[in-house]
Amino acid sequence: MMVKRSLGIWGIAAALVGVFAIAPAVATVNEKTPSEQTLRSLALRHGLYLGTAVDLSAAKKTDEPRYSQIIASQFSTITAENVMKWDALEPERGKYTWAAADAFMSLAADNHQLVRGHVLVWHNQLPCWLTEGVATGTITRDELREILKKHITTVVKRYRGRIWQWDVVNEAVSDSRDDADGVIRYKQFWYQHLGEEYIADAFRWARAADPKALLFYNDYNIEAFGDGSAKDKTQFVHTMVKNLRVKGVPIDGIGSQGHLSTRYGNYDAFQIAETLDRFASLGVATAITEADVRSPITEGVKQGLSDDVNAMVHAQAANYSALLRGCLGSRKCLSFTLWGFDDKHHWTTITDLGRGRGAESMAGIYDAGYRPKQAFTAMKADLAFSGAPYVQNRLPQKPMP
Ligand code: XIL
Repeated sequence: MMVKRSLGIWGIAAALVGVFAIAPAVATVNEKTPSEQTLRSLALRHGLYLGTAVDLSAAKKTDEPRYSQIIASQFSTITAENVMKWDALEPERGKYTWAAADAFMSLAADNHQLVRGHVLVWHNQLPCWLTEGVATGTITRDELREILKKHITTVVKRYRGRIWQWDVVNEAVSDSRDDADGVIRYKQFWYQHLGEEYIADAFRWARAADPKALLFYNDYNIEAFGDGSAKDKTQFVHTMVKNLRVKGVPIDGIGSQGHLSTRYGNYDAFQIAETLDRFASLGVATAITEADVRSPITEGVKQGLSDDVNAMVHAQAANYSALLRGCLGSRKCLSFTLWGFDDKHHWTTITDLGRGRGAESMAGIYDAGYRPKQAFTAMKADLAFSGAPYVQNRLPQKPMP
């Protein structure tokens, strides 16, 4: 006889009792077979929150119910894909447009989901009044710092107590491909105009506005350590976070975006787990925050030839698995978020990330008609067929005061 140990209840309880609670370890036996269960319930066996970025305009479409149904059923944490970015929140200086972000927060509450707030400080999707003001010199350095402080304070206070993890600073560091010498440096708008101190400031301002949210630094291409040299971005971020913590800057987590392509060799699960563990040894939690795995769209794929299609979907599944197993293998990895789940709405469907190397995509774990792919099944198997001693319940993170 099957014993029902209602894992679902723990998940809901964790969400209701306190949004920051981590589901306790439960030896689960469920009436449903693993393949009948959701990503959400299988992940909570490990205390892991499984999430996705949400395209709010797609979620609002009444003629496309599958999009919202999948969000509600499969995921226990969500991130706003765009509606919490600065250009969406303050398109005109001093005039905040909260409607979409508020609607997103309600969606999460209705679905009993935890929220990853995304994003407070980033060089992209800034409002024009800000970038133009800085470019023309009408906004001075001192004023820019005050503007950033006000932005962080206003946004974080509005959702205080309702955000589990905030991406406070996003992509502040260059990539080995950005400069001819391959050396990693601070980069972009905020660094150029405020110097590197803006990073510590941003975390301090965010903490002052919400004492309980977990404050994250988030970046891409930090899934694995390289040679530890000045060209190793993962090492750079590790050192940066270490130094911030030593200075008492309230940083609670490192988010590894996890944008992969089957075009590259990418990483194995052990490298990813080891990297997350090395981050965790600094005293921070970790998360996979924007997982997706795109593929080159070859002529064969376009024509639906099984040689090409099968190779693609299995390579994709293997990469999703590596990310997920890596997270499962590191007990401080608290959440695993996909940056979109279906090919129809996926951001890489409309963004060429190939740096001139031709179209890539089909990055979702569902196809454009919401049919689950190999990657979906592989992820469920990873969650179902794992446990002690190597996969254990998540270790909670306390916000640094
Ligand atoms: C992307 C969104 O998915 C797109 O819809 C938007 O046009 C551009 O931004 N890293 C991040 C995310 O931190 O905010 C980005 O999201 C993807 C890369």
